[in-house]
Amino acid sequence: MKQPIRSAKSTNAITDPVGLGVAPSSLIETEHRYGARNYEPLPVVMAHGEGVWLWDEHGRRYLDMLSAYSAVSHGHAHPRIVQALIAQAQRLSVTSRAVHTDKLPAFLKRLTELTGLDRALPVNTGLEAVETALKAARKWGYRVKGIPEGRAEIVVCENNFHGRSITIVGFSSDPQYGDGFGPFAPGFKSIPFGEIAALEAAISPHTAAFLVGSSRSRARAESSCRPKAISLKSRGSAASIACCCLSTRSRRVWAAPENSSPASTKVCAPTA
Ligand SMILES: Cc1ncc(COP(=O)(O)O)c(C=O)c1O
Repeated sequence: MKQPIRSAKSTNAITDPVGLGVAPSSLIETEHRYGARNYEPLPVVMAHGEGVWLWDEHGRRYLDMLSAYSAVSHGHAHPRIVQALIAQAQRLSVTSRAVHTDKLPAFLKRLTELTGLDRALPVNTGLEAVETALKAARKWGYRVKGIPEGRAEIVVCENNFHGRSITIVGFSSDPQYGDGFGPFAPGFKSIPFGEIAALEAAISPHTAAFLVGSSRSRARAESSCRPKAISLKSRGSAASIACCCLSTRSRRVWAAPENSSPASTKVCAPTA
């Protein structure tokens, strides 16, 4: 589902890849002129949304089957959500993290109960969730597992998509994500997706985590890439790793074991 970043040359040409016969919009031209090009959206300008429907600038209606990659799975302009947004914005919109707020505690409690995770960190983007998981896993590796400082390894899957920070694009197997952005952070080991034997072989006493997304956003989306339940048999301390399982439904939430003993085995079982 993820749109590839194409070369600057190809982004100059506004085409009609979805065959909707939509004329190039002056709004698209303006965005191209003033926006930093980190993405190539479809040449459609959405202006209004309600429930599962979107309307473009010409009044054409679309069934929104993308849902902003899950960010608006609840639909567009849900009246209860809009009312809650308005009420909260009128009361208190933004504070810095230097203070507590009267809403965050209840939100965190509800979110962790809903997801069954120990703790949650609300962030704005998927990549922030991944970066936080990587940091937590490395610190767990050093403080709990006893990995020598600076030697932590994190196992990732080929054809992953976890976002576009420099760390994350550094372990992407898609050359266009890393092209021109190096040098990258070390400490990542890539294995083929779904290959349990490759995962077991990749785990060493320095392994801090296995990072895997249960939904493949692009490349090889066929059935061989569907997530398989992963169950690691204990092999002493080498098998003690933190599993960071991220799905599109939970990509803004991260989880890592807190006080796991180095001898324990983590079981990571993403759902199909
Ligand atoms: C599976 C997956 N992981 C991570 C991300 C990164 O999220 P963001 O672009 O919000 O940083 C995305 C973005 O679409 C995604 O689809």
